[in-house]
Amino acid sequence: MANRIQKPPRHWRKEIDFILISQEQLARRVNALAREIEKDFAGKDLVIVALLNGTVVFLADLLRRLSLPLRLDFIGVSSYGGGTQSNELVFTKELRLDVSSRNVLVVDDILDTGKTLSQVMVKLRKLKPRRMKICVLLDKPSRRVEQVSADYIGFEIPNHFVVGYGLDYAERYRNLPFVGVLHPQMYKNPDFIPLLSLKKRRLLQGVKTTIGPVAQPPSPHAPRLAATL
Ligand code: IMP
Ligand code: MG
Repeated sequence: MANRIQKPPRHWRKEIDFILISQEQLARRVNALAREIEKDFAGKDLVIVALLNGTVVFLADLLRRLSLPLRLDFIGVSSYGGGTQSNELVFTKELRLDVSSRNVLVVDDILDTGKTLSQVMVKLRKLKPRRMKICVLLDKPSRRVEQVSADYIGFEIPNHFVVGYGLDYAERYRNLPFVGVLHPQMYKNPDFIPLLSLKKRRLLQGVKTTIGPVAQPPSPHAPRLAATL
C-alpha cells in the first residue's frame, strides 16, 4: 500500500507535523488487541496494572472492549525531572491490589528504551504474580537499551517523538484523538522546555525529524503501520 501523509486538523498544524496513527486505525487496533487479550486470559483471574499518566486514553478504550472479569490498578512512574544525570524512576503511586499468584497484564503507552518497563517489572516480580504479560500501545524498537519486549503491541513506530491519545509533550497534547508527530519547532519552544523532564529532553535529541516510510520488522503482534504512511 502506498505511504500516505495525513495532515492534522488545521488548528493543530503549527504544533503537530503529521498524523502517524489516525483515530480509525487506533480504534481498529485496540479492538483487535482486546480480542487477543480476551483469548489469552479467558478463565484467568486478571489484574490489569496500568502505568500513569500516559496510558489513560488507551486504557479507557481497551478496558471497554474487554469482556472479561478483571480488576484494575495503577502504578505512578515519573522520570527524575530536575537533576542532570539521574535515569532513576520515581514511583509516584504504588500498587494497592494484591497481585501475588494473579495473572497480571501490565499496560503502558510506549516502549522506548525499555528503562521504565524493566524497572517496573523488577518491582512487580517481587510481588510473585502467577504470570505477567506486557501490553503497549506503541513500540519504538530502534531505541531499546534494556532487554524488554511486549507481548501485545498496538503499533511499531519509527524514532519519531509522538504525542496524543494519552502521550504528552510537557504535559500537553494528551487529549489529541490521534497519535501525531510533534513539529520539530516545538522542541525549541521556550514556553515548554522548562516543563520537560530530563528524560524527555534527552529523548528529543535523537528523534527523526523528517518524514519517511516506516521500516519495521513484521513482529508477530504489531500491525504494519508502514502501510499507512
Ligand atoms: P522508556 O523508559 O524509554 O521505555 O520510555 C517510556 C516512557 O517514555 C513512556 O511511557 C513515555 O512516558 C515516554 N516516551 C517515550 N517516547 C515517547 C514519545 O515519543 N512521546 C511521548 N512520550 C514518550
Ligand atoms: Mg509513560
